[in-house]
Amino acid sequence: MKLLVTGGAGFIGSAVIRHIIQHSQDAVVNVDKLTYAGNLESLTAISDSSRYRFEHVDICDRVALDKVFADHQPDVVMHLAAESHVDRSIDGPADFIQTNIVGTYQLLEAARAYWLNLDQQRKPCFRFHHISTDEVYGDLPHPSDCALAAEQLFTEQTPYAPSSPYSASKASSDHLVRAWQRTYGLPTIITNCSNNYGPYHFPEKLIPLVILNALEGKPLPIYGTGDQIRDWLYVEDHARALYTVIRQGRVGATYNIGGHNEKQNIEVVRSICALLDELAPASDRHLTAADGSPLTHYASLLTHVADRPGHDRRYAIDASKIQQELNWVPTETFESGLRKTVQWYLENLAWCQRVQDGSYQRQRLGAQQ
Ligand SMILES: NC(=O)c1ccc[n+]([C@@H]2O[C@H](COP(=O)([O-])OP(=O)(O)OC[C@H]3O[C@@H](n4cnc5c(N)ncnc54)[C@H](O)[C@@H]3O)[C@@H](O)[C@H]2O)c1
Repeated sequence: MKLLVTGGAGFIGSAVIRHIIQHSQDAVVNVDKLTYAGNLESLTAISDSSRYRFEHVDICDRVALDKVFADHQPDVVMHLAAESHVDRSIDGPADFIQTNIVGTYQLLEAARAYWLNLDQQRKPCFRFHHISTDEVYGDLPHPSDCALAAEQLFTEQTPYAPSSPYSASKASSDHLVRAWQRTYGLPTIITNCSNNYGPYHFPEKLIPLVILNALEGKPLPIYGTGDQIRDWLYVEDHARALYTVIRQGRVGATYNIGGHNEKQNIEVVRSICALLDELAPASDRHLTAADGSPLTHYASLLTHVADRPGHDRRYAIDASKIQQELNWVPTETFESGLRKTVQWYLENLAWCQRVQDGSYQRQRLGAQQ
């Protein structure tokens, strides 16, 4: 099988490509514009493989997309390319509208034109897999507001109610994909996943940001009280889920993917601090606290800042459909995955340095009301 993966130089896309090249005989063509979030260095483990190709292409460029389809003749498309950071979408929604909505439209049209011309043997096997987020569902009741909150989870039937420009643009792209299946018969599948974490995560997202700030003795920003709940999934479990869906998923279906790991943001930050206290003690790094005294515990760097406008309070996924239909379950617990993640960042500080090219220095984004 040859897979066309968009956004393969990003956090999840690179995990998907590493998984496919390392665990199968399939071939991959990676279509990526290489925005600030795309780093080919995340693919060095597999970039020498004869089964891997890279195309430096913007998914909004229909002419370039047609050429990629014609040149590489893929069997399936896995569409991950997107603008993905909520705070950035608040500061500047235009790129999100362009890539996430217009880019998905261009890719759907390029895929449809290609699929229509496939021969009768290949046409029924073609798949367009759209990778989306649980943020399209809006937020769920929080245990502090509602006694029965824990029983309420996002299912594949939950109505869409996105809160941020990011999630609204992803919701729009999901609607386009569903419409292209209903109207044109394009064989599509959609997956909606919860928050991912793990190696090669760009340092603007919560977990790598906290690890890197802590190691430099900088404040660890907590939005509001930090009681927002996310359902965390280790990125390699997500990559395995996506590869399962592209091979075994039903055309027209949606699958929710989650890790059964509901954690408050503040708990996540405290867990990272505890791991760093064990693996890279502040005293060994000669760090000082804000008052100039020696830093003894990373948790003393926790700093509450004004909450994000429109911040969703709780996400939690019911992943029983993918478990029952496709036999997928996550293998990492939050504790095992977080330990691996912290260890990876400690061993790959040079990667972190290189991907921050000067345009982003871990400053606060998306604070405007
Ligand atoms: N990170 C998460 O927790 C999470 C959870 C659920 C779903 N998702 C979805 O998974 C997908 C991947 O997320 P991620 O965290 O890896 O994102 P990311 O920001 O790390 O990577 C996005 C990739 O897309 C590329 N890209 C952006 N605009 C492009 C364009 N116009 N043309 C071609 N390439 C372009 C970037 O260069 C980058 O390599 C996204 O669609 C996102 O909505 C992410």
